[in-house]
This record gives sequence, structure tokens and C-alpha cells, in this order.
Amino acid sequence: MKSLCFPTAAEVAERAASIIVERIRAKPDIVLGLATGVTMEPVYEALLEAYRGGAISFADVTSFNLDEYTGLPASYPSSYRATMQRLLFDHVDIDPARTHLPDGDADDLDKAATLYERQIIAAGGIDLQLLGIGQNGHIGFNEPHSEFSTRTRTVALHSTTMQANAAFFPNRDVPRNAITMGIATILDAREIIILATGAVKRAAVTAALYEPVDESCPASALRSHPNTLWLLDAEARPLALA
Ligand code: GLP
Repeated sequence: MKSLCFPTAAEVAERAASIIVERIRAKPDIVLGLATGVTMEPVYEALLEAYRGGAISFADVTSFNLDEYTGLPASYPSSYRATMQRLLFDHVDIDPARTHLPDGDADDLDKAATLYERQIIAAGGIDLQLLGIGQNGHIGFNEPHSEFSTRTRTVALHSTTMQANAAFFPNRDVPRNAITMGIATILDAREIIILATGAVKRAAVTAALYEPVDESCPASALRSHPNTLWLLDAEARPLALA
């Protein structure tokens, strides 16, 4: 595993975007794994800038997002589908039929989860997975003590995760469940870049990078992945890396 540290969150986002731009240019029909969260917003802004400047096209890109809340219609503004539309998909030339998120509003969530795994395989697997990290070390919505062998499935959110995401919901009324790619699904990606910015992420990054690989910190599973790059700002950087 490699890690790069930058003074600011803006530089972390710029580097992430420039890697994505490079990969799209090298392989226009790339399969991207995408993530939501505040950390990713400047990454999508930078990608939009690259698109508007003519550096990249999304015309042949396929995308799979990590996760989605359950029980929300896709049109609900805080759903991850609506968020991705607002931040990226609505503004670029990506084929809407090739943008995928788990269907958190399906009648049969188990079936939706199985279908998602099949769709990823049918697309040839994920070339580049973009990841954030939760304050408790979660990746996607794989909360602490998720098994490393997990695949896409429905999960219950931890109270810390619900608190961290409460501001995005009226009356702080966050859904209690989500559907997420599993840890094994994430580890199947051929390349992973994981971003962490801000002091609230330092403990989780430290555990993921330096404490024993353990299901108590889902992001520590990335230590077994052959091609993962951590992009950190000064506040999230573990003291051991300072
Ligand atoms: C959310 C998402 C994750 C995201 C993480 C960090 O709950 N499910 O995919 O990476 O938490 O989010 P943020 O960047 O807002 O801190």
C-alpha cells in the first residue's frame, strides 16, 4: 500500500481527480467505482472542470457506486442516486444506463444485492474504485465487524454513521439501513484510491494503516489489496507519517 500526504483537502481532491482523468484517458471504457460523502464533492467538481475543458469524456464510462440508503426513492434529494446526479451524472455525457447504484428502494433487497454483484461482473469488474472512510473505519457502508468476505448486501448503520450523515436529512432523520458493496466486492477492484481529510478521520486512518488488520476496522482490509493508494491531508495523516 502506498500513501501520499498533502497540506490541504483541496490538494487531496485534485490529486484524486487527476488520477481518475489519467485512467479515463488511458481507457475510455473504464469501469469506475464511485463514492459519495463530503470528501468526494471537490473530486467531482474537479472532474467536471476536466470534462468542461475537454480533457475527458464519460461517453464510454461505466460506473458503480458503493452504496445507497434503503427505503428512499431515487428522487429523494439525500439519496445517493440523487446526489450523484447532482454532483456529476447530470452534467456529463455519461450514458445514464451505465450509471449504477444499488437499488435501495427495491421490494426485494436481497435480490437487488445479488443483481448488483452480477452487474459488476458482467461489466468486467471495477478498474478503479474511489473510496472514502468513515470516522469508525467503515468503507462503503461496511461498518466495524463486517466480515472481510462480505458481498453486496443490506446492512444496519451504526449510530456514529447516522450522526455523521444526519445533517443531510430533514430533522436529522437518517435511514437506519443501507445496501452496500461488501468488503470482498471492494477488494476485487483492480485499483483503489482512498481519500481521508480532516482531523475526524485521523484515528480511523491510523487504525487502518498501523493497527492489526482486523474486522473492527473495515478499512484495514485494504492492506491485503495489491494496488491501493491512500491520499491524506495534514489533518487526517497519522502521526507516524508526520
Ligand atoms: C459515508 C459513505 C461512505 C463515505 C463515508 C465518509 O457514510 N457511505 O462511502 O466514504 O461515509 O463520508 P464523508 O466523506 O462525508 O466523511
